[in-house]
Amino acid sequence: MPSITGSAPGKIILCGEHAVVYGQPAIALPVNEIQVKCTIFAKPNWSPSRVNIKDQTIGLNSNLTSLRPDNPIRKTIELALSALAIDHLPACEIQIHSTIPIGGGLGSSAAVSVAVARAVSAFLGHPFENGITNDISFEIEKLHHRTPSGIDNSVITYAKPVFYISGAPIEWLDFSQPMTFLIADSGKKGSTAKAVSQVRQSWQSSTSEYESYFREIGEITLRIRNLLVDGDLPKVGILLTQNHEILKKLGVSLPVLNFLAETTLKAGAYGAKLSGGGLGGNILALVPLELADSVSVALRQAGAARIIMTRISPTQGR
Ligand code: MEV
Repeated sequence: MPSITGSAPGKIILCGEHAVVYGQPAIALPVNEIQVKCTIFAKPNWSPSRVNIKDQTIGLNSNLTSLRPDNPIRKTIELALSALAIDHLPACEIQIHSTIPIGGGLGSSAAVSVAVARAVSAFLGHPFENGITNDISFEIEKLHHRTPSGIDNSVITYAKPVFYISGAPIEWLDFSQPMTFLIADSGKKGSTAKAVSQVRQSWQSSTSEYESYFREIGEITLRIRNLLVDGDLPKVGILLTQNHEILKKLGVSLPVLNFLAETTLKAGAYGAKLSGGGLGGNILALVPLELADSVSVALRQAGAARIIMTRISPTQGR
């Protein structure tokens, strides 16, 4: 049975989340240890244009046309078809398999749309360039939370560390030292949509206070960018922890996230912060490679539900 697969990695926001929605810069990294794969199987014996979608992670097994019109998977397929000026898919089954935890701030929604757009375009014989995939995924991110900055779809589409300002051309992050991160799951699901809308409401009622937080975060991001060029990871760590303190003021942290971040600092991490929308999800700790195991042990003892170690090397930044 002929089949074709599209895939996409997860992501982690190093610094600048939330502020990036308000025009400040942010830095995001791909996380290749977690992935979405979308495989399309041709079904020549099925009735023409019957398309079935299976996604075990979310318990989905449905005909494409039975999905709500604003279902993100349905919408991704429609946008892919329209970019190719093709009006329907031939009979097929689309299987989605994800190892990216949902509600973890690790980019599961953007990775699904990137993998599906890639698989559909390849299945139809015209694999998209990254620019088209990225545009489609950005449209889908708007369905998930109305005002995405575009950072998630960008880092996931290109699978490279990005320095990102909404609306500006994507810049690849320049850094000179390999970095080791631990990503620890609080066990509590976060909702980026809820966090983004909560921050928006607070910004509307306390505009100058929130704008000064966003500016502070933007300055931290710029300093981190420069320190990464020099390879000064201890100083980067200090700034990551400062970024976390401002995220607390924005109201998107939780005691469990603070506790996990503090645990890593006590165990020798250079710095730690929540990552992504917050209100649950994951923290990220920048650690010296030789301490990765002992910091992981400390995180496990502190109750982390899952720990991912990822190492980013300068060659990935080019
Ligand atoms: C989510 O990964 C990052 C946020 O800044 C939202 C966005 O940039 O779209 C919270």
